[in-house]
Amino acid sequence: MLKAKNVTKKFGELVAVNNLSFEVKKGQVYGIAGPNGAGKSTVYNLITGNYSYEGKIEFNGQDITGLPPHSIAKAGIARTFQIPEIFPSLTVQKSIRLGSRFGARGGLDLEHTDELIGFVGLKEERFQKTGLLNLLGKKKLMIGAALATKPEILMLDEPMAGSNANEIISMMELIKNINQELGITIIIIEHFMKVLTELTETLLIIESGTRICCDKPEIVTSDPRVIESYLGDAYAESK
Ligand SMILES: Nc1ncnc2c1ncn2[C@@H]1O[C@H](COP(=O)(O)OP(=O)(O)OP(=O)(O)O)[C@@H](O)[C@H]1O
Ligand SMILES: [Mg+2]
Repeated sequence: MLKAKNVTKKFGELVAVNNLSFEVKKGQVYGIAGPNGAGKSTVYNLITGNYSYEGKIEFNGQDITGLPPHSIAKAGIARTFQIPEIFPSLTVQKSIRLGSRFGARGGLDLEHTDELIGFVGLKEERFQKTGLLNLLGKKKLMIGAALATKPEILMLDEPMAGSNANEIISMMELIKNINQELGITIIIIEHFMKVLTELTETLLIIESGTRICCDKPEIVTSDPRVIESYLGDAYAESK
């Protein structure tokens, strides 16, 4: 469904993404992990057309390299950001309806907006200003706004960051529902290995922009290269 072929991104001297290739299949939950500064968020920024790059990215067999962000959103790729980006003075309901206009497939009417708000778990808060939501609420809102574009693929950037144990469970539940009930393919960048092991079918580890390995999570987390470069000995001993 989404194929990156020999993708390289340089910021001046820095090679943020280095000759990276990977393939996400339809229906998958696909994980990306790696140390801070590994180039994970940059990979999203390349897929969504925010920067130019060397190499090629295909979506549903179509070359999307060099397309502007709005065309990529229209093609069916949506994302969330590491730090929630919201309009604080709008209500939850208005924000989701605004989000729906960025997609391809026409804005959402009120009924479908409220259905989606219920799906992400913000029904009680739908007339609240988004600036008053807690962190988990803001993240759910950001996911709701991304879903409002009716994407085929949703890319999440560290959705668990800053969350407590209960919030992590709630977010994992939502991600599973998006994948299984809405049939949306998911790419998730995350630092919590337990979350990735439970949610994903395939896990890509990158370091300094380079692919270290890519396989089923249980294989990846026992790979000596991954333990050495990313997980550390403490993780290996705790298994
Ligand atoms: N717009 C930019 N201009 C210059 N350098 C950048 C830019 N965006 C990212 N970088 C650099 O590229 C490298 C990869 O950054 P990126 O944000 O993709 O890492 P990451 O894997 O998402 O890290 P983290 O886990 O901390 O979120 C870093 O060294 C970062 O400083
Ligand atoms: Mg990042």
